[in-house]
Amino acid sequence: MKLSDPVTISQKGDLAIVTIDNPPVNATSQAVRAGLLEAVKRIEAMPEVAAVVLACAGRTFVAGADITELGKPPREPHLPDVIAAIEASRVPWVAAIKGAALGGGLEIALGCHGRVAARGAKLGLPEVTLGIVPGAGGTVRLPRLIAGADALDMITTGKPVSAEKALTTGLVDAVAEDDLLEAATARAGALAAEGRPVALLDRDPVAPLADADWDAAADRLRKKARGQASPLEALAALRDSANLPAREALTRERARFLRLSGSEEAAALRHVFFSERRAGASLKAAEAAPADLGHVGVIGGGTMGAGIAAALLLSGSRVSLIERDEASCAAAAGRITGILEGSHKRGLLDDAGLADATARLETGSDYAALTPCELVIEAVFEDMDVKTEVFARLDAIMAPDAILASNTSYLDVNALAARTARPERVIGLHFFSPAHVMKLLEVVRTDVVSDRALATAGALAKRLRKTPVVAGVCDGFIGNRIMSAYRRECDFMLEEGALPWQIDAAMRDFGFAMGIYAVQDMAGLDVAWAMRKRRAATRPADERYSRIADRLCEMGRFGRKTGAGWYSYEDGKPVPDPLVEGIILEESERLGIARRDFSEADIIARIMSLMQAEAQAVLDEGIAEGPTDIDVTMILGYGFPRHKGGPMFLAGRV
Ligand code: 3HC
Ligand code: NAI
Repeated sequence: MKLSDPVTISQKGDLAIVTIDNPPVNATSQAVRAGLLEAVKRIEAMPEVAAVVLACAGRTFVAGADITELGKPPREPHLPDVIAAIEASRVPWVAAIKGAALGGGLEIALGCHGRVAARGAKLGLPEVTLGIVPGAGGTVRLPRLIAGADALDMITTGKPVSAEKALTTGLVDAVAEDDLLEAATARAGALAAEGRPVALLDRDPVAPLADADWDAAADRLRKKARGQASPLEALAALRDSANLPAREALTRERARFLRLSGSEEAAALRHVFFSERRAGASLKAAEAAPADLGHVGVIGGGTMGAGIAAALLLSGSRVSLIERDEASCAAAAGRITGILEGSHKRGLLDDAGLADATARLETGSDYAALTPCELVIEAVFEDMDVKTEVFARLDAIMAPDAILASNTSYLDVNALAARTARPERVIGLHFFSPAHVMKLLEVVRTDVVSDRALATAGALAKRLRKTPVVAGVCDGFIGNRIMSAYRRECDFMLEEGALPWQIDAAMRDFGFAMGIYAVQDMAGLDVAWAMRKRRAATRPADERYSRIADRLCEMGRFGRKTGAGWYSYEDGKPVPDPLVEGIILEESERLGIARRDFSEADIIARIMSLMQAEAQAVLDEGIAEGPTDIDVTMILGYGFPRHKGGPMFLAGRV
């Protein structure tokens, strides 16, 4: 029986199967809500039906509200009313969960009287990651099904749990060993025989938290949220749910959800959600078969090469890693196994997985080991001569259609490509440190890049679960170019009256994990210094240039690794250093600048306008494919606070 386009009812004896079919992820669009409500009404009028299984077509259960509808005036029927109708049904409903039951999807499952999940399914309430709170009973029903602490964790972090974990917390009744529909049917039959369970809304909270636990959780969240409102709002909704009658808590939750849906934070996070999915579109559009990624070569096993190799090993690839000599090979292998062991400790790899990944690594100095590879990624020193030599050796030995990639941060990939006999099969693959963790992959396309090289970059990003953005060739591509520009501007603010720790505090209060000076101390000041010295000869005489960083470097203050940089360090913690302040004041005086006060708002306004101006230049020059890619780059690669949407979102340019 077809009720609306996406919802149908079929019957098997006294069992009704309600199926939602709304690709790609069965989101609860208005048509789905209307269809479900109609299904409940029809089933109430079918006396022969004793139980219902709620199933989905395609690869997933309901993945939540339709995010494109959020922030717009909601259209009837509303999801809470649909769920209330299911919950009040005279017969038990059992949700058959595969793929993902997220947000409104899990809330529908909580309105059902039983839940059975397929192996590998994930269940969660990710609303806080969209700047909202659950809006259809999640904060009220979940803590009436599972322990308060577990509900708090799921709802305030937004992180989904596996079917197996859901079974241990009581979120699902069973995990189907084999056929999900069969297992759900069996559960529905059992509930029909036992009698429909009491609705969650009519139960008391399970193991509710004490007042002190709520306060401690609020403190923790406030520190972690860095100005994002939704996790604390979710906590407040949960606290209502614990302290108020369920139906009153439900009304309050809905009001909170509607208020937050219209917030700037929610708009920013929705923008990021869709921008991430749009990123790298041109790679998917490339009409060529990608290179095989089952065996990949990596040259250089330092910070980046080791991280890239580890990421490849974790994805199931074989890796041949080339280093300069035996000692460097051993050091590289040590770094890589260190990363793999870390993944093992965190439970991302089991014992067999660790042994398998380790066995897929070979290190050596002989390029011959690379010849079976269709992709080689170079991560040697940031020096054009060293890279040119490596590319010449690769070009001579690799199969003609093999792709050669460079992880360079700044160098001219067009020039590197032109020095090979295969310029169209040379590409930039700019990973971020640590490469096995950071989600961003900046793909640098040369002027002559082939579709196959682009398709390979896209396939690699997918395999490593990274978000790719495509950048054209320029000094620093998208990310480092914008970053360098605003770092320069911060140094000018120092000359004009600010201090490094003030700028860092303003950035942290804005939502960055770290300020720009703490970041430089962590990464090391020497690399940028070397680059500035290289460029000194070609710098226009009238270009404004701050000498403060150079003066620190001249004193050997390269950051944490030398015990001092922009800050000095006490017990590993950065502390403002009067010596640095002295150097800054001297520079202001030397330049004849009368120092003035900078408020946090002044600092952020200056950083944003500079970032936005450079981003606009990057767009105008065709370096980035669109403003959303710039936001994705700054958020995933440079710690720009996700809940602020990115510099272009803030500038209103998207
Ligand atoms: N609404 C609208 N579109 C959605 C969507 C949603 N909830 N979830 C996914 N999509 C779209 C994506 O934009 C993408 O579209 P595209 O192909 O045009 O780019 C397509 O579906 C496939 O998505 P993914 O590329 O992300 O596919 P994956 O297989 O990698 O992941 C997923 C599937 C795990 C379901 C992932 O898409 C996801 O996490 N979706 C968001 C889930 C979510 O946040 N739900 C909560 C919504 S808020 C809510 O429910 C409020 C409630 O409390 C009232
Ligand atoms: P690193 O100094 O940690 O590692 C470089 C490694 O390359 C060393 O282990 C060295 O022994 C090896 N090497 C040098 N010449 C070689 C050769 N001819 N053959 C084989 N191996 C050789 O440097 P890091 O930080 O890993 O940087 C590597 C590249 O990645 C650079 O181009 C850098 O700009 C880029 N990059 C660095 C990032 C970072 O945060 N460190 C981020 C993104 C890119």
